Amino acid sequence: MAERNQKSWRDFDRSAGYRHIEVMPLNGAVAAEVRGADLTKPLPVEVWSEIERAFAENVVIYFRGQKGFSREDHLSFAQHFGPLQKIPHIFSVDDYPDVQIVERLADDKRRVVGEGFHNDSTFMATPPTTVTMHAIDVPDFGGDTAFANLYLAYETLSPAMQKFCETLIGVNSATALFGSGAGDKNVMMKDMKAEEGDQEVEHPIVSVHPRTGLKHLFFNLIYTRRLKGFSEKESRLILNFLQEHVSSMAFTGRVRWENDTVLIWDNWAAHHSAIADYPGKYRYMERVTTGGLKLTGAQ
Ligand code: SIN
Repeated sequence: MAERNQKSWRDFDRSAGYRHIEVMPLNGAVAAEVRGADLTKPLPVEVWSEIERAFAENVVIYFRGQKGFSREDHLSFAQHFGPLQKIPHIFSVDDYPDVQIVERLADDKRRVVGEGFHNDSTFMATPPTTVTMHAIDVPDFGGDTAFANLYLAYETLSPAMQKFCETLIGVNSATALFGSGAGDKNVMMKDMKAEEGDQEVEHPIVSVHPRTGLKHLFFNLIYTRRLKGFSEKESRLILNFLQEHVSSMAFTGRVRWENDTVLIWDNWAAHHSAIADYPGKYRYMERVTTGGLKLTGAQ
């Protein structure tokens, strides 16, 4: 487990001190490949505790070459990180309601699902804490997923801006996805009730993460519609500034998919974005989500 007395995300030594696995950070900002763990087999508790540490410190971890990784393996892997909590608007695999589908057909001309930095489903009162993706049939190249580290983004704001952000509450809803602001359905997803899309939930813009005890930003331009007590215009200005900051190259990294890669991201401490650079190609993954927790503000 990560050290609880850390002051800053940068204090983590993200690759050192492992005895059972190898942890290879993707870059200085986010994500690491974990080697030496076969997720299709039961793993000893010491290996799990190192995997959990790698996850806490790297925010996104991925395992290559997991041939034979079954849906049961997927569900059991995800549940090491929290109770299952599927998201409402995407389809599930037959007989496995908690295994959900991320699919794009080669001739789909609609928008790519998940394009643009965001956290998933922050319109929920308990937004997913983790998302695990299993790459099953992905293009040889193209269709990477980008990630941004929201600890690092918070920590690199000036002390005055950090203090200001700690006072902010984001008002979130799925209005733009399936509520009254959605327009024509332009991505592959279930038919949803617009009233549900318009329901608002509040989350703090700066939250203390239960896994590390560190503060991170928590907002996104898809679901965070405004800031409590601020006008739309003021809210947009502040949220746009924060998003521009989060999207700095120095806080981001992108993972290239290969079939049989299993990846888990921290949906509170990371933004992710699907990269829409594979027109005419098929891409199929399965995902499992965990959650059930409310965020804790920093004040
Ligand atoms: C998502 O945003 O949930 C999907 C990400 C991806 O397909 O890369």
